[in-house]
Amino acid sequence: MRKPFIAGNWKMHKTRSEAKELAGELVKQLKGVDQRVMIAPPFTALAEVGSVLADSSIVLGAQNMAVAEEGAHTGEVSPAMLKDCGVSIVILGHSERRHVYGETDELIHQKLLLALKHELEVILCLGETLDEREAGRAEEVVRRQLKSGLDDVDTDGLRRVTIAYEPVWAIGTGKTASPEDADQIHRMIRQEIARLYGDKAAENMLIQYGGSVKPNNIADLMAKENIDGALVGGASLKTETFVPIVNFNK
Ligand code: 13P
Repeated sequence: MRKPFIAGNWKMHKTRSEAKELAGELVKQLKGVDQRVMIAPPFTALAEVGSVLADSSIVLGAQNMAVAEEGAHTGEVSPAMLKDCGVSIVILGHSERRHVYGETDELIHQKLLLALKHELEVILCLGETLDEREAGRAEEVVRRQLKSGLDDVDTDGLRRVTIAYEPVWAIGTGKTASPEDADQIHRMIRQEIARLYGDKAAENMLIQYGGSVKPNNIADLMAKENIDGALVGGASLKTETFVPIVNFNK
């Protein structure tokens, strides 16, 4: 049985004081929920939010990580620095990192290996663009990103990976993939995991959906067999929208 995992990616939103306030409210309002919940504030608010979450069940995520342990990497943040702020999960390969900042499959793969080496969990984001979908290449693109991201990862490492399928055309656009379309890609991902790691690993693999997840579409998405959670952007910035998403089954 896979436990639902709802994550909020705050992207480049919230100053330290705003982040602290939202995190504090979430701790209060989500006390005792069954779902696994993560929030990923911007780097500048990680330490602050980390202390707010310290005695709660909400876990602290980071939105990105350097591909190196330390050194001359202006503007980058290392795995040890993230852990020092209380981070236990890092989002890697988000479409904004891939498409706006030019991160390649290989770079994301190297980051993933480094994160696992430092005992961080990873949310590995995959997803096709609109052009790729319209050309009938969605599955091929997602399969390529998956295989490349997980190259050299053994079954032990895989246990610390969550996959997030986020079709690029659905992010921040208000267009959600239909639950059926999303589930089809999720099923393909699970089959690919079964082929690479066996049935047991595939059964345990958590696969989140991301892209315009809102309180009014979460229940239909979560009702699908292969959708185990959500990676939420815009709707994670307010308790009024994030709390009902976490409580989708109430
Ligand atoms: P939206 O929920 O704003 O579409 O963003 C999704 C996303 O990119 C989460 O990582």
